[in-house]
Amino acid sequence: MSENIIYGIMSAMPEEIDGVISLIHNPQHKSIAGRTYTSGTINHKNVVVVFSRWGKVAAASTTTTLIDYFKVDKIVFTGIAGAIHDDLNVGDIVVADSCVFHDLDIRPLNERFVVPIINKKFFELNVSESWYLKLVNTFHANNINQIIDENWITVFNLRTVQVVRRSIATGDQFVNSEKMKDDLRINLPVVACVEMEGAAVAQICFEYNIPCSIVRTISDSANNTAAMDFMPFAKYVASSYSVAIVTALLSD
Ligand code: ADE
Repeated sequence: MSENIIYGIMSAMPEEIDGVISLIHNPQHKSIAGRTYTSGTINHKNVVVVFSRWGKVAAASTTTTLIDYFKVDKIVFTGIAGAIHDDLNVGDIVVADSCVFHDLDIRPLNERFVVPIINKKFFELNVSESWYLKLVNTFHANNINQIIDENWITVFNLRTVQVVRRSIATGDQFVNSEKMKDDLRINLPVVACVEMEGAAVAQICFEYNIPCSIVRTISDSANNTAAMDFMPFAKYVASSYSVAIVTALLSD
């Protein structure tokens, strides 16, 4: 029997979500505003899975449709991110305990990074302990070869994946220089990695009072090789990561 809860599951790139879509039983497709929403069940749990497209506007609009039209109860966003600190390596996983917009700046009208009216800099996210532990177990060195092909484990050096609970920064920018990273490290020192959708999803979920989880896998170091590094990661392993992350979430 299926649970009544509906999970909205989204990613910004087809490479990140196609594997999850292929897990869906009895898939039903619905097109809205250029997105294809696929409903069905995974492990007897109701899901609606969608490729949101890149950036804050695309993510916010997709999140709103998941909540308003599909009536989802929880949202999970999985995808890739650039590391801001040297203690994170390609393949490590960051489960957001908060999200912030790094490109939001309406000074002198308000403090940098603070969302007007809501008056929030960080959207705090609750990370379920049991799900976190499932992720740690799934990506443990003893288990990683069950989810990632041995060849890609070697190519991307994925033997010792860390799963951490840290802050994630979002902006409509691909971060690819030490200068941009320095600005983030100085002004948002708690931020572990950078991407282009998480805080937008978190803001909409905050406004609708819906729980959400943002889970990011490090694909690059947000430096001058980031553009070259992130594509092969997205192409060859991001999908397997998303499948493993969603499977851990929806396991009993
Ligand atoms: N997603 C993956 N890598 C990224 C980067 N360096 N900047 C922004 N978003 C990303």
